[in-house]
Amino acid sequence: MAEEKKKFYITTPIYYPSDKLHIGHTYCTVAADAMARYKRMQGYDVMFLTGTDEHGQKIEDKAKEAGITPQQFVDNIVAGPKGIVDLWKLMNISNDRFIRDDYHVGAVQKIFKKMYDKGDIYKGKYVGKYCKPCESFWTESQLVDGKCPDCGRECQDAEEEAYFFRLSKYAKPVQDLLENTDFLEPRSRVNEMVNNFIKPGLEDLCVSRTSFTWGVPVDFDPGHVVYVWVDALFNYTTALGLFNDKYDDYEKFWPADVHFVGKEIVRFHSIIWPAMLMSMGMPLPKKVYGHGWLLLDGGKMSKSKGNVVDPYILAEKFGTDALRFFLLRTFPFGSDGNFSNESLINTINVDLANDLGNLVSRTTAMVGKYFDGKLPAERQVEEMDQELIQMASTLRDKYEGHMERYAFQDALAEIFKVIARANKYIDETAPWALARDMEANGTRLATVMYHLLETTRICGVLLTPFMPESMEKLFQQIGACEACQTWESAAKWGSLSATAAPTKGENLFPRVDAEKAIAELDAAAEAARKAALPPIEVEPFVEEKVDFDTFCKSDFRVVKVKDCVPVKKSAKLLCFTLDDGTGVDRQILSGIAQYYKPEELVGKTLAAIVNLPPRKMMGKDSCGMLLSAVHTEHGEEKLHLVMLDDAIPAGAKLC
Ligand code: MSP
Repeated sequence: MAEEKKKFYITTPIYYPSDKLHIGHTYCTVAADAMARYKRMQGYDVMFLTGTDEHGQKIEDKAKEAGITPQQFVDNIVAGPKGIVDLWKLMNISNDRFIRDDYHVGAVQKIFKKMYDKGDIYKGKYVGKYCKPCESFWTESQLVDGKCPDCGRECQDAEEEAYFFRLSKYAKPVQDLLENTDFLEPRSRVNEMVNNFIKPGLEDLCVSRTSFTWGVPVDFDPGHVVYVWVDALFNYTTALGLFNDKYDDYEKFWPADVHFVGKEIVRFHSIIWPAMLMSMGMPLPKKVYGHGWLLLDGGKMSKSKGNVVDPYILAEKFGTDALRFFLLRTFPFGSDGNFSNESLINTINVDLANDLGNLVSRTTAMVGKYFDGKLPAERQVEEMDQELIQMASTLRDKYEGHMERYAFQDALAEIFKVIARANKYIDETAPWALARDMEANGTRLATVMYHLLETTRICGVLLTPFMPESMEKLFQQIGACEACQTWESAAKWGSLSATAAPTKGENLFPRVDAEKAIAELDAAAEAARKAALPPIEVEPFVEEKVDFDTFCKSDFRVVKVKDCVPVKKSAKLLCFTLDDGTGVDRQILSGIAQYYKPEELVGKTLAAIVNLPPRKMMGKDSCGMLLSAVHTEHGEEKLHLVMLDDAIPAGAKLC
């Protein structure tokens, strides 16, 4: 009987579709994807789940704001153009399943009822604080400076009849789980959980709401909606078919091998989640890995601060694989990291274009040039080759050690050590010098080329989970057959055919012109920031009243523009010569040069206040002010001169 394949079940959090996703969300999904691809390569039967967390008050509020139903709202963000599903396609995410909330509703009701029947969920009264953006309940004592301890935003008072989960009952077993097993990693997160949440006393958790309806109804008590986090956490099991007919993989894949989650939701996954599973009598996931955040200028990205980085723009500009690689090469997965366009471009130029890209293009070009594209089979191995061969042959094991710890950065660093060694080997062996006498050195030169190709192949196999598309091209260029792209072959030096026939192809990773790219990205970010600002804003109305007589003292007149010229040495001022009906020209200076070309104003009929005391500006007298309408559009000031019907004669009084 064929041996059953080993299984691996990995999940990302299900993302809130309250806004488009940013680079931070992409980071976690790309990490999970690299892991899933790596395990598939190792021969595991992999289940890779991601999805969206569509219920909750925040979504209900946002839909209301947009004037559509919550379902329409989430459908657009999840499955609409450039939505979440599209983003994962663009990022080449190989998820096996994508959970949305439809089939999972009935299952959550059954789960809730089961915990209720067991006595682990009971009805009580909730009095405390609620953070809407985080969908988290807090007690007064948990707030930090009166604000949500997770996100620092205002919390609301909340008081209502509600169901509670007996979280306190599970405090001890959960503490054991955290302290005495490697359930939660990195280890530093364990102390955080135990010290901040368990030791101060774990309170029962409010698990239902009555103040909104967009969620899973408690079927035995209409009006109550299941707390979104209960709903959300069980997605990891309902997506496999627990208590529903859509799938039938629960027995096969549960418990999960690892949940990847961001550090701020470790609490839900490492305390509440195992407690509820214990209550349900279900096996616990083998591991929760709490990764760090990608920060921008040292702070959290947030849509409301207008500082989110759009993965679409980056992937479209630099390529999906380059972005995937950068995310996992640059930041240690367990800690926070500072995102910047500069470091993205630097990584592309140094690691990909320079080190890896050059290795491939130089090697394939040399084989083409010196051997007409096909290596002869004879070899002449020398002592100086040993270090490279040894490093490449043992790379897979080192890489595996790092990957098993989710240390993507270390795994990639290991590969790039070998790539650097290969580039150095080119300098040491000086193939161009060997090629000067092919008769004497042909065999040695072929050996050097083979070593370079073989090293590149091994690195290519191990880079495949990170850059699947580019590595396919790389294999084609170095002439690696399918059998020498496998996990097994990565540990076997010499897998590549002795008479390999590489072909120099397109540049795998073109160099980026950093200055130009950064200017373009800054401009795109500025445009996005502006687009996020309100389309039209006008100044607030003045509260203070003026009396009628004061108003009547202002003399507004119709004026015609006889001439208009820029004022020398002033970027802002235009100098108007106006017919105000008196027969004597009136001169007014106005700071509107950025809005109008002077010549286009000649002949226009405008409005001006004419009884202001004259003012000197740039050495010229200005006798009055032209009236204009001002407002802000996407954060940018706009101005329109008040233009009147040309039929109105100059000097007519405005009142
Ligand atoms: N819906 C919940 C998860 C429920 S899982 C049962 C949720 N959604 S979320 O959209 O707000 O966040 C999803 C994940 O994105 C979290 O793991 C969070 O840490 C991650 N990230 C959000 N911003 C991030 C960064 N700037 N950097 C890295 N990850 C970030 O929470």
